[in-house]
Amino acid sequence: MLSLHWPQYLSGSVDISGSKNAALPLIACGLFFEEFTLHNVPRIGDVLTFLEIIKSLGVVVTFVWSTLTLDTRAMSMEHLNTDLVKKIRVGIFLFPALLKRFRTLEIPYPGGCNIGKRPIDEHIRGFEAFGYVNEWTGEMLHFSGNYSTTNVCISAGFAVTATENILMIGAFRSGRTTIELAAMEPHVMNMIEFLRSLGITISVSHDHTITVDGIKHAPEQAEATVIHDYIESGTFIILAALTARDHIVIHHARIRDLRFFIAKCREAWVKLDLDESNDTITVYNSRDSLKSLHFQTNIYPGFPTDLQSPFSLLLTQAEWVSRVHEVLFEWRLNWLVEIEKMKGHIAIMNPHEALIFGHTPLKWAMVSSWDLRAWVTMILAGMIASWETMITNVEYIERGYEDIIGKIAKLGGKIETV
Ligand code: EPU
Repeated sequence: MLSLHWPQYLSGSVDISGSKNAALPLIACGLFFEEFTLHNVPRIGDVLTFLEIIKSLGVVVTFVWSTLTLDTRAMSMEHLNTDLVKKIRVGIFLFPALLKRFRTLEIPYPGGCNIGKRPIDEHIRGFEAFGYVNEWTGEMLHFSGNYSTTNVCISAGFAVTATENILMIGAFRSGRTTIELAAMEPHVMNMIEFLRSLGITISVSHDHTITVDGIKHAPEQAEATVIHDYIESGTFIILAALTARDHIVIHHARIRDLRFFIAKCREAWVKLDLDESNDTITVYNSRDSLKSLHFQTNIYPGFPTDLQSPFSLLLTQAEWVSRVHEVLFEWRLNWLVEIEKMKGHIAIMNPHEALIFGHTPLKWAMVSSWDLRAWVTMILAGMIASWETMITNVEYIERGYEDIIGKIAKLGGKIETV
C-alpha cells in the first residue's frame, strides 16, 4: 500500500522515459532479426513481463540501463510461457514474428486490463488476409499457413496494436500491403520510422492509409530507439498544474504528440510555456484558476484515452461543471468511483460519459484501480487530498511508468510504502 500526506508542493525538473506503448511492439518486431538492439527502453513491469515471455521462447535477452539486446538464434516454441501470454494483451504482438518463423502457431487468447472489451478481431482478420488459416480450439488460437506474396488490403479499424501487427507482417514479405483506417499514434510512427531505416518503403497518407512495400527477408541485425512517452509527459503536466510550488520543467516532453492535449490544458487555463527547440515544457501551478470544459477522447491526434483520468482529476479543481466523454473504452470511467470516495462530486451518466463538478476539495480515503493510467492518477489525487490517502494494489505502480515514485521524490514529493 502507498501512503501520501497532504499538502505537497513540488518543484524542479523531470525527465520523461521511453514510451511503454512504443517499446512493446518494437521489442516484438526485434524477433524478426537474429540480433536486435533497442535503446531508451523503459524499465517497467509490462516490459519486464513481456521479456519473460520472450525469454521462454529461448531468446537471449540482455537489458543494461535502458538498452535491450535480443539474440533470437535459438528461438523455439517449445517452452513458451502460455500463462504469461494469457495475462497480458500485448501477447498478441508475438504473432507476426512467430508466424513468419514457425508457420504454425498455437497460443492462448491474450489477456488484457480492465478498461473494457479488448477484442482482437482486427488482428485475426489481418492474419487471415495475409493467408493464415485460423481455428479456434477452445482456449487456444491456432493459425497455420505462410505469408502470402500477393498485394493485400486490410482495414485496421483505427486499432493501434492491430495496425502495428499488420505493419510488421507487411514489412517482411514481398508484395504491397495497404492498411486502411490505420492508427497513426506516435508509437505507430516510431515503428514506421524504424522500418523505413531498414530500406522498407512505407507511405503514410492523411486519410489514415499506410502502404508498405515489404522486403522478403529481414536483415540479420537491426537497431532502433524508443520515443519518449507522451502519456507520461501529459501526466506530469497535470501533476505540475496541481502541485507545483511555482513551476516544474518537463524534459523530452514530446510536445509534437501532445498538441491537442496541450490545447485542452490551455482551455482549462493551465499555465504552461513550450520550448519547442528543446522539447521542454514549463508548467506553472494553475490550481486556483482552472476553468471547466467538455472533452472527449479520440484516436490520435485527438485527446488520448490514456490521459483521460489525470485530466478528469484536474477538472475536479476547476470552477464549474465539466463533461468527459470516453469514446474508446466502456469501463474507463469506472475509476471515478474512487474519486467519489475522496468526496469528489461526480455523476456517471452512462459507461462513456460523466459530469465532474469542480471546486471540490478532495479528502483522504483508501483507493485503488485496475487500470494502470487511473492507478497513477490516484497518486496525483493523493497529493492534493487532505490528510493521508492510501492506495492499494501497488503492483500497478511500476507497470507503465518508469520509477514514478523516484521521479516524484526528486521533485520533493513524499510517498511512503506501508
Ligand atoms: N478494437 C476492436 N478490435 C480489435 C482491436 C481493437 O474492435 O481487434 C477496438 C477496441 O475495442 C477499442 C478500440 O478499438 O474500442 C481501440 O483499441 P486499440 O486496439 O486501439 O487499443 P489497443 O491497441 O489494444 C492501445 C494501447 C492502449 C491505448 C489504446 C488506445 C498499446 C500496447 N496499448 O491499445 O494503451 O489505450 O491503444 O490508444 O499500445 C495503456 O497504455 O494503458 C493502454 C491501455
